[in-house]
Amino acid sequence: MVLEGKAVFSTMLLLSLITLLALAVPYLSLDNGLVRTPPMGWMAWERYRCNIDCKKDPENCISEHLFKSMADRMAEDGWRELGYQYVSIDDCWSLKTRDSQGRLQADPERFPSGIKALADYVHSKGLKLGIYADLGNYTCGGYPGTTLDTISLDAATFAAWEVDMLKLDGCYSNSSVKAIGYQKMSSALNATGRPILYSCSWPAYEGGLPPQVNYTLLGEICNTWRNYGDVQDSWDSVLSIIEWYGKNQDVLQPAAGPGHWNDPDMLITGDFGLSFGQSKVQMAIWAILASPLFMSNDLRTISVNARDILQNRLLLYINQDSLGRQGKLIIEKKPLEVWRRELVKGQYAVAFMNKGTDGTPRDFPTCLSMLNITECATGYKVYDAFEKEFLGEMKLDTPIDVIVNPTGVVLLFIVPTC
Ligand SMILES: *[C@@H]1O[C@H](CO)[C@@H](O)[C@H](O)[C@H]1NC(C)=O
Ligand SMILES: *[C@@H]1O[C@H](CO)[C@@H](O)[C@H](O)[C@H]1NC(C)=O
Ligand SMILES: *[C@@H]1O[C@H](CO)[C@@H](O)[C@H](O)[C@H]1NC(C)=O
Ligand SMILES: *[C@@H]1O[C@H](CO)[C@@H](O)[C@H](O)[C@H]1NC(C)=O
Repeated sequence: MVLEGKAVFSTMLLLSLITLLALAVPYLSLDNGLVRTPPMGWMAWERYRCNIDCKKDPENCISEHLFKSMADRMAEDGWRELGYQYVSIDDCWSLKTRDSQGRLQADPERFPSGIKALADYVHSKGLKLGIYADLGNYTCGGYPGTTLDTISLDAATFAAWEVDMLKLDGCYSNSSVKAIGYQKMSSALNATGRPILYSCSWPAYEGGLPPQVNYTLLGEICNTWRNYGDVQDSWDSVLSIIEWYGKNQDVLQPAAGPGHWNDPDMLITGDFGLSFGQSKVQMAIWAILASPLFMSNDLRTISVNARDILQNRLLLYINQDSLGRQGKLIIEKKPLEVWRRELVKGQYAVAFMNKGTDGTPRDFPTCLSMLNITECATGYKVYDAFEKEFLGEMKLDTPIDVIVNPTGVVLLFIVPTC
């Protein structure tokens, strides 16, 4: 039996009801009302970097044209309806100098209409605009930084432009500036009165772990935060991120929840470095980790295969689960790993990942009780999320033989029958 779009849709309706109910309950985290589920969208950095040569490469340089094109694609090709909402500018958008009043200013050759007009355009498409700044003397790309004395001005500038998200990077500063500045920007954004998703790169600059990083504090001042190094366009990079999250999950997993999320960085599906199977791995583990889903790819030319992965409704349903509980690595049996996430209504998502590169698909004989899924004694309905297939109703001890390709994944969606 094929998993029907209709079935997923009605579960999604129910899910939005639960989300609405959850909104009514007070919570102890950054209180700007945003990202009760992980944010989704598109971000320029991984794919487009600091390409500012619009004469040589007009279609791919960092310019208003690039962001408008991506907004068009997101609005017209089904992304927006699935929840991909933010179109996010990264580094290298500004001039090398501030204006006469000390404000950051967009490069007028690459952004002739200005950021406010770009925000208006993006909003007209039913989307939101993100921007980038750096808490330090310069941005990583060498553009003007946000120093402690320009934090309030920059927050006010972004709010006046009607920007909806700020990624605040951390090049060219030190730990003491960061300890003051990230909190100060959080207050400054709040003081603008505009809800602005606040993405903090702070922990990634401090090694991502206590005692240098205080995750309780981060949850109170930031909506999302980068814990670890930048994703690059390779399997090695994606695997190293997954391994770091697994190794440090006891610290990271409790830090995430509605309104505040760990961010393992952008999705690179649709780029050059990952195979089809490896792209599924990134999407599956990002769904298990309740990660923000910011694609960094070319939506104008993306392949059907890559789009199918990124637009997989069941994957997105798992990522956007309203319980907001990050999943964990539960079994390691080299080269296989099993990752499990608890979802609302006693549902589970379980990813079986094969890190092996010896060319042979591996099988992993298991059953629900071996995966610690035992609450519903009458058993569960089991679906294969990528194959979009109903595998059957399983008792707790019904054998399940999962076969996983090298550097590949199988993702099961498990629904109680009770
Ligand atoms: C500012 O913070 C207060 C207190 O946490 C909160 O109620 C309010 O919604 C926040 N406003 C914005 C725009 O983030
Ligand atoms: C930033 O600039 C200040 C003032 O010029 C200087 O003291 C500091 O060393 C610089 N910090 C970094 C990390 O470059
Ligand atoms: C950190 O940077 C600030 C501002 O650039 C500077 O005043 C301060 O001395 C630096 N602190 C350390 C420990 O280097
Ligand atoms: C971490 O931050 C929280 C919230 O601001 C604070 O109460 C706590 O004391 C901090 N923990 C450490 C170890 O500094």
